[in-house]
Amino acid sequence: MKTLSIIMSLFLIGSGTVFAETSGHKHDGHAMSPEMKKQHEAMATISNQWKACKNAIKDKNFKDADLAVETIIEAANNIESFKLHKNTDKQEHFTKQYNVFRENILKLKDAIKTRDADAASNLSTKVEESCKQCHSTFRK
Ligand code: HEC
Repeated sequence: MKTLSIIMSLFLIGSGTVFAETSGHKHDGHAMSPEMKKQHEAMATISNQWKACKNAIKDKNFKDADLAVETIIEAANNIESFKLHKNTDKQEHFTKQYNVFRENILKLKDAIKTRDADAASNLSTKVEESCKQCHSTFRK
């Protein structure tokens, strides 16, 4: 009896390990690795806050625009350590895209802080271009 339960436990431990390993590699499936989840969450935050930011700029609501832009900048700190899923050999290009985006969003932050509606509007277009630029190479 005892031997049987030991064999059973070993079997369960074994199958658990195999399952954990396969699910960890399944990027396109439903099982997401913690690091994938983190990337997703960072991008989701950036995306939602970006919508809020654009609307606030249109409405000249600098207080809300400021809150949104600060949240984006914080979430964007995660981008640099993203594990790429497409064009994985172009890490340098990715870093470059990230720096362009960062430069634009920091300029936008200044425009919002100084309540310069025209500059904020122009920079908003530039930021959006840098979202699209990076996605065109690195988003699946
Ligand atoms: C430096 C590159 C880069 C920049 C800049 C960037 N993104 Fe992304 N974005 C990505 C990558 C890479 C993915 C795919 C995520 C993955 O593969 O884990 C992504 C995915 C997304 C998604 C899909 C959701 C998801 O989690 O997959 C949305 C929405 C998004 N980005 C919005 C934005 C917006 C809005 C901006 C600009 C304000 C932006 N991104 C700027 C690289 C970037």
